[in-house]
Amino acid sequence: MKNRFIDRMQERAKHRSSRIVLALDYINENPETLEKRSIKIIEKLEGSLVAVKINYHLLIPLDLKKMENIVAAAHEKGLQAIADIKLNDVSSTNLIVGENLWQAGFDAVIANPIVGYQEGIEPLIEHAHNKGKGVILLVYMSHKGAEDGYGLTVMDEKSKQLKLYELFLERSLNWEADGVVIGATRPEIISHAADKLKGRIPIFCPGVGFQGGSHVEAVRVGANFLIIGRTIINADDSLKITELIRRDVWGHHLEI
Ligand code: XMP
Repeated sequence: MKNRFIDRMQERAKHRSSRIVLALDYINENPETLEKRSIKIIEKLEGSLVAVKINYHLLIPLDLKKMENIVAAAHEKGLQAIADIKLNDVSSTNLIVGENLWQAGFDAVIANPIVGYQEGIEPLIEHAHNKGKGVILLVYMSHKGAEDGYGLTVMDEKSKQLKLYELFLERSLNWEADGVVIGATRPEIISHAADKLKGRIPIFCPGVGFQGGSHVEAVRVGANFLIIGRTIINADDSLKITELIRRDVWGHHLEI
């Protein structure tokens, strides 16, 4: 079978007993420092991580070469690299974005299902899968105002009323997404999603610590991967805090 993003994530998770995705959200620094600090923390924490997530904090200030260096540093340590850009455009643009990300070495991209399937997400997913890459879809974001969008009551094509996140969840399955993002701040929605997905696609949860979500609770109710930024990168001892979180929820061994 083809080498899939999600298989690489599972393999690494099993190997390292960790399902922590580190958000490399460094700020207010020059590009050289951003690159150096990102590579340094990858090398420091790699044994406790499954992947790194890179978003606009780095994608805007850094040139392609620096971005490739960071992704290569992650790969060298066996980590996957996820681009968090919440991609949300027509397919011709999505494909160009995807192509650039894959060329830089990224393994997956986070996209917004609001853009729809045909001429939206479908070509991106197809293109990604052909290259062994993944597309992770937003289902319910971690911030308070997420309710204003993802919590809306909508009607599906059969006139059944449901919440927008429930529709996104169904679509993530039907569209063969490689994961869904649900805020750790919404344990009841993680639990609902875990019931619906039954392990067919993994649940990625940001919002631990700084945004108020509990890593223990998120994993207890069904989170498969935790996305963590400031709690780790701003810590005096980033390795200690990462290991504390990892052991809190996954201990020394990890059941897949
Ligand atoms: P912190 O510092 O809050 O960082 O641990 C969290 C990281 O995740 C991003 N983030 C999200 N990404 N859906 C996403 O795809 C979300 O609901 C969401 N909430 C936070 C945030 O940008 C940061 O990089």
